[in-house]
Amino acid sequence: MKRHLISAADLSRDDAVLILDTAEELARLADRPIKKLPTLRGRTVVNLFFEDSTRTRISFEAAAKRLSADVINFSAKGSSVSKGESLKDTALTLEAMGADAVVIRHHASGAPHRLATSGWINGAVVNAGDGTHEHPTQALLDAFTVRRHLSPEASGVGQDLAGRRITIVGDVLHSRVARSNVHLLSTLGAEVTLVAPPTLVPFGVESWPCEVSYDLDAVVGKSDAVMMLRVQRERMNAAFFPTEREYARRYGLDGDRMARMPEHAIVMHPGPMNRGMEITADVADSDRCTAVEQVANGVSIRMAVLYLLLGGNESAVAARPEESK
Ligand code: NCD
Repeated sequence: MKRHLISAADLSRDDAVLILDTAEELARLADRPIKKLPTLRGRTVVNLFFEDSTRTRISFEAAAKRLSADVINFSAKGSSVSKGESLKDTALTLEAMGADAVVIRHHASGAPHRLATSGWINGAVVNAGDGTHEHPTQALLDAFTVRRHLSPEASGVGQDLAGRRITIVGDVLHSRVARSNVHLLSTLGAEVTLVAPPTLVPFGVESWPCEVSYDLDAVVGKSDAVMMLRVQRERMNAAFFPTEREYARRYGLDGDRMARMPEHAIVMHPGPMNRGMEITADVADSDRCTAVEQVANGVSIRMAVLYLLLGGNESAVAARPEESK
């Protein structure tokens, strides 16, 4: 593994399977009465969030705490960033506090890369979502969720996603989740199809390792997993589709479309969901929808990433949980 996790495209098949297997090992902790391991005791993880987040921030915090790291949560709102402080000065402040890992979410694509290559900080940098670019830990938790569902024998440990057909639907243009998933899922051997209105397909998609379709009905019937994306209004500066109703009719997942999916197939969503837009409430609440499970899996994945980046090379759970805490 590299020293930082900036892009899902940086992960080899073996790196990705190692992270999934480590997460699987760590997930077993969640069933123990004491969920904490001493593995990262004395290490400091800083969560540096310049953009809003519910799931990702809480998940990284829970992951670091379960590994006994000290956690510092920084959110741009209410900090000196609102007084105009630069990323560089913020980074130098974190370095002065001895951060071993910096988890960064930023509205600018490329901010985590800048942080990792600037020399401002020495710790590992983890991209928790940068602009419309990448969100590698989301792709890892999505791959983990697919593997658990589609290879139930020992949760697919050691396996990749060879031959699995995964369809990603919606606002691909603005979605860092879609970008990271296309890279990671294809590295793991899956066949990925993007479905979106032509206005929400990114420029240059021909060079991505996936197929593109404009017809959701043509692909739902042959998908092992259908991943719905949020329509990202906050990133839209133009009218990308005529009306919400029209969008939902052509690109939304409702009960009728879900019924046409193969029996074993799952519905995924990274959250937050626009119920009634890309997904109807009955689909979101159905037992085929893994949205809540994806959140739970996110903690195990982020534990695995922090553990591996901060130098873990023995079995992640070899050490006994701290009985005393
Ligand atoms: C995604 C994000 O922030 O990129 N959400 C998440 O991390 N769970 C997707 C989104 O905002 O739609």
